[in-house]
Amino acid sequence: MCQEPKSKKDTSFIIKLFKKYGKIKSVLDVGCGVGSHVKHLHDKGYNAEGVEADPAKVKFSKKNYPNLKFGCQSMQTLNMNKEFDAIICINNIIAFNKTNEEVFRTFKNFNKHLKKGGLLLVQTKNAMGLIENRVVGRRVDTGKDRTAMGIKAIIEEKVDVTKQRLIGTRTFLRLKDNKKVGSYTKSSRLYFPQELIFFLEQAGFEVLDHYGGDLSKATLKDKELNKPKMLFIAKKK
Ligand SMILES: C[S@@+](CC[C@H](N)C(=O)[O-])C[C@H]1O[C@@H](n2cnc3c(N)ncnc32)[C@H](O)[C@@H]1O
Repeated sequence: MCQEPKSKKDTSFIIKLFKKYGKIKSVLDVGCGVGSHVKHLHDKGYNAEGVEADPAKVKFSKKNYPNLKFGCQSMQTLNMNKEFDAIICINNIIAFNKTNEEVFRTFKNFNKHLKKGGLLLVQTKNAMGLIENRVVGRRVDTGKDRTAMGIKAIIEEKVDVTKQRLIGTRTFLRLKDNKKVGSYTKSSRLYFPQELIFFLEQAGFEVLDHYGGDLSKATLKDKELNKPKMLFIAKKK
């Protein structure tokens, strides 16, 4: 059975938000990864384009979707000489910012690339939700996708309290003999809801609303900020 990809479900929710909070035609996806949200938005009639800091992903997107626009740009230095009706920055992109100055610069750049009244949808991990759910620690991921590939992942997470970052290490083991086949460590800036609101307001946004949880599963009723992820909707003043 063919499962609907997560990015398609994310996009359905994003479109619900666009319809609820604005009149959106043009969209920029910042940190667009391999371009699937841009593609789904385009398929639904939006004038969507994406930027991404990893040149390999930009190359992949351009090859995969030759009729769509992708550029190699970073959120901290975004410069497109263009304004959009909406910017989406989803699935923890802002966690790559290393300092408060970078966070502020990122949001100022988003503001600069929006039309007056334009919408920003920003989604990231919620430090409050992580505390509430006590999800930091060690766990084993034997999800369907991994099992199909014959591997499991040991996920070990700890918090760098001074820098307010989540340090996550994933070690991949082969199911048949438990042999290590790879590992990587990722460091993500954590944000608390009130902190994100403060950054957004300082960068020239009015915060309109928030949602909790995964985009692919969220509904317009999911307002609680006690989940591991949060989404804020803000309007350029
Ligand atoms: C978890 S992926 C999410 C990709 C996509 N938004 C999605 O939801 O599928 C995070 C992406 O952020 C990109 N990224 C990291 N630092 C960035 C930066 N400074 N500016 C723009 N993108 C960045 C990474 O290369 C990666 O593709």
